[in-house]
Amino acid sequence: MNKIPECLVHPVSIKLIRTGHPWITSDNFSNRFPRHSEFIVATDDRKRAMALLMHDPYHKNIKARVWSTKFPFDREAQHFTAGVQARLDLAFEKRSQISALKERDNFYLVFGEADQLPGLFILKLKDRVLIQFYTQFWNRYKSIIQTTLQEVYPEFKDENIWFQLRGETRELQKLPANSTNQERRDEFHLQEFGLQYLVRLGSSYDHGIYTDMSSIRHTLAPLIKENSSVLNLYSYTGAFSLWALKLGAKEVTSVDLSPKYIEWLQQNLGLNPEINSTQHHALTMSVDESLEKFISENKKFDFIICDPPSSSSDGEKRTSAIKAYRELLIKMDKVLQPEGRLVLFLNTHQVTNQKFEKTIQDNLKELKLNYKLGTRLSLGQDCPTLKNFPEGSYLKGLVLEKL
Ligand SMILES: C[S@@+](CC[C@H](N)C(=O)[O-])C[C@H]1O[C@@H](n2cnc3c(N)ncnc32)[C@H](O)[C@@H]1O
Repeated sequence: MNKIPECLVHPVSIKLIRTGHPWITSDNFSNRFPRHSEFIVATDDRKRAMALLMHDPYHKNIKARVWSTKFPFDREAQHFTAGVQARLDLAFEKRSQISALKERDNFYLVFGEADQLPGLFILKLKDRVLIQFYTQFWNRYKSIIQTTLQEVYPEFKDENIWFQLRGETRELQKLPANSTNQERRDEFHLQEFGLQYLVRLGSSYDHGIYTDMSSIRHTLAPLIKENSSVLNLYSYTGAFSLWALKLGAKEVTSVDLSPKYIEWLQQNLGLNPEINSTQHHALTMSVDESLEKFISENKKFDFIICDPPSSSSDGEKRTSAIKAYRELLIKMDKVLQPEGRLVLFLNTHQVTNQKFEKTIQDNLKELKLNYKLGTRLSLGQDCPTLKNFPEGSYLKGLVLEKL
C-alpha cells in the first residue's frame, strides 16, 4: 500500500476528533486533501498524526469520516477489510441480543457511525437486506460487506440483497438496486408489531416504512388510548395510523399531500383484515388545508401526531420544519381536545434536541398555550447514537399534554 498522505485538519476538526466526533466537513483544509487518496491521516497543528480518515471527495459536506484513532495508522489501513468484518460482526451480535427486535421483521443490523461503520447503514426487511451508503467511499467494499453479512445470515439470498447510495444531492440519490439484477423490482409484505406493511424495493427512493421510527411507535403504545380519535399529520404510508387502530383507537384520520402515499396507506390497511378500515379516513391534501378544514368543522381529536419533512417549499420559499411549528401549533391546538396529546417530531441533524425543545417551549409561551412536556422521544434499540455526535441523533420527538 502507498504511503497514506498526512494532512493538517481544521482547528475545529482537531477538537471534534478528540471528543469522538467522526465527521470532517468541507473547509479550506479538507477541500485540499489529495483527491485520489482513499485514506488520509489527519494531523494536528504540531504535525502529530491523530486519526485515520475515510476520504470522500464527492460528498458536498462530509469530506471524510474517522475510521480509527488507534496507532499505527498505516497498519489500520492495511487491515481495513478485516476491520470492516470485525465491526460488522460486532454490530450483528449486538442486534441478536436485543429481544425487543423479535417483535418485528424490520430493524437496523448496522447503524452507521454509532456502530463504528461511518456512513454505512444495513436494514433487515424480513428476508431482504438493504445496504445503504451515505458515502461513496463504501462502493469498493460492496462484496466484502455482502460476504460478511451472508456468513452470519446465510438465509439472505443474493437476489434479496439491495444496495443504495443515499446522497445529499439529487444526482447522488439512487434507487435501491439489487446486487444480482439491476432491473429487478421487488414488492413484499413485512410485519411490525403484528401489522403487515407493503414494501417496495427498486422503484422508489424510500421503500414504504421508516424503521428508525419503529421503536418510537412501540414507546407510544401506552399513550394511544382505546376509543380515542387520532390525527396523523404527514402520514406517509400510515405506519402510525395502522398502529393507532391496532391499539384500539376508534377513529384515525391520516393526512398526506401525496396521492401515491395515501394509496400505499390504503393498501397497507387492506393487508390487515383485523383492522376495521371504516374507522380510518384518508385525506390527500396539505396539512395546512386539512387543519383549516377541521377548524371550520369544529372537529376535535384526542391525539395528534405531526411528523413534517425537515424542510418544505411552497414553490416560492423554503421553510424549515422548526420554523413551521409556530403556525402548526396554533392550528393543532384548535383541533385538540382538552387533556389531549400532541406528538411533535423533527427529523434533521441540523437542530439539536435542546434547540428543538426550547423553540417549542418558547412558541407555546408566546402563543399562551398551556401544555405540559411529557416523554422525549429519540432513536432507540437498533438505532444507537453517540454522545458527542449530535448529527447522529437526527430524529427527535416531544409529547405535549394539553392542560
Ligand atoms: C417524514 S415523512 C412522514 C413519515 C411518517 N410519519 C411515518 O413514520 O411513516 C413526511 C411526509 O409528509 C408528506 N408531506 C410533505 N409536505 C406535506 C404537506 N405540506 N402536507 C401534507 N403532507 C406533506 C410527504 O408526502 C411525506 O409522506
